[in-house]
Amino acid sequence: MRTRITELLGIRYPIIQGGMQWVGRAELASAVSNAGGLGILTALTQPSPDALADEIARCRAMTKHPFGVNLTILPTTKRPPYDAYLDAVIEGGVTILETAGNNPAELVAKAKGAGLTIIHKCTSVRHALSAERRGVDAISIDGFECAGHPGEDDVGGLVLFPAAARAVKIPLIASGGIADGRGMAAALALGCDGINMGTRFCATQEAPIHPAIKQALVGASERDTQLIFRTLRNTGRVWKNAVADEVVAIERRPGGCDYADIQPLVAGTRGRATLESGAVDDGLVWAGQAVGLIDDVPTCAELIERIVAECRSALQRGARAFAAND
Ligand SMILES: Cc1cc2nc3c(=O)[nH]c(=O)nc-3n(C[C@H](O)[C@H](O)[C@H](O)COP(=O)(O)O)c2cc1C
Repeated sequence: MRTRITELLGIRYPIIQGGMQWVGRAELASAVSNAGGLGILTALTQPSPDALADEIARCRAMTKHPFGVNLTILPTTKRPPYDAYLDAVIEGGVTILETAGNNPAELVAKAKGAGLTIIHKCTSVRHALSAERRGVDAISIDGFECAGHPGEDDVGGLVLFPAAARAVKIPLIASGGIADGRGMAAALALGCDGINMGTRFCATQEAPIHPAIKQALVGASERDTQLIFRTLRNTGRVWKNAVADEVVAIERRPGGCDYADIQPLVAGTRGRATLESGAVDDGLVWAGQAVGLIDDVPTCAELIERIVAECRSALQRGARAFAAND
């Protein structure tokens, strides 16, 4: 395949595994890159910039292909040393940076100066245009279906992708709600140059997640996600389990709630423990609506080859609608 994204990133297929807290480790990122996509390590999964440097070295030992690092700038009480994490990326010889969560301005100048290719992930056309003006190289745009933080505009990919495609000039990646080749074909048809997936890559052999969580994702339908933190205007989409329901119940109390009321339920360490132990109702499991499209736990190579084959036949099926009338 050849699109502006395969050209920009030097990869075989325009399929990216987005940054995922606790999941974006060397095992998964290298498997995706070895399969022809772009794997991405998640910087803040590592406790320190030094640990990120080690993880980058580990990933490099597992793949000869390009991989990236995600740096997520989110509102937090204890600000991580973003600059030092970026230094680890640059000194580790990684050439692709995925920024997300907030305006990437503070990172762009230094990253560009070091020759990095920057993919900025955001959830609205206005934020995409602002990042483009600041000099990022590609936009990943997350529709409302996505896992993680879909923003507060609630615009699904079917509208958001073409709206972004007609406004943004740099290469564009469709993200959120995509788990198969039909979704990929749709993204290309809507004007995007590639796709980004999170939830689908969680249900692969190489994802460093307990098998019970992967099976829970396989068993879930498209109706089984929950929107948390809506009342705090920091919406997050997660798999609908007991903890997610409890968070929403507290948020809906008369008078609302403060972050402190739900903090013990949503603590990152608790989510991490759940992913490791497989105790499916103990902590938050981030997942998007595409969870309803997942029926198995293939290797990343099987998944990517299948998606590419499905994408090709979906596009051919669409083209036949015209051929029949010619
Ligand atoms: C378990 C999990 C953790 C995630 N953590 C992050 C993160 O730390 N930073 C980030 O930018 N996006 C994060 N995301 C969002 C993904 O990178 C991606 O944008 C999203 O999953 C796309 O939607 P999809 O799940 O429908 O494919 C996470 C997604 C999942 C499933």
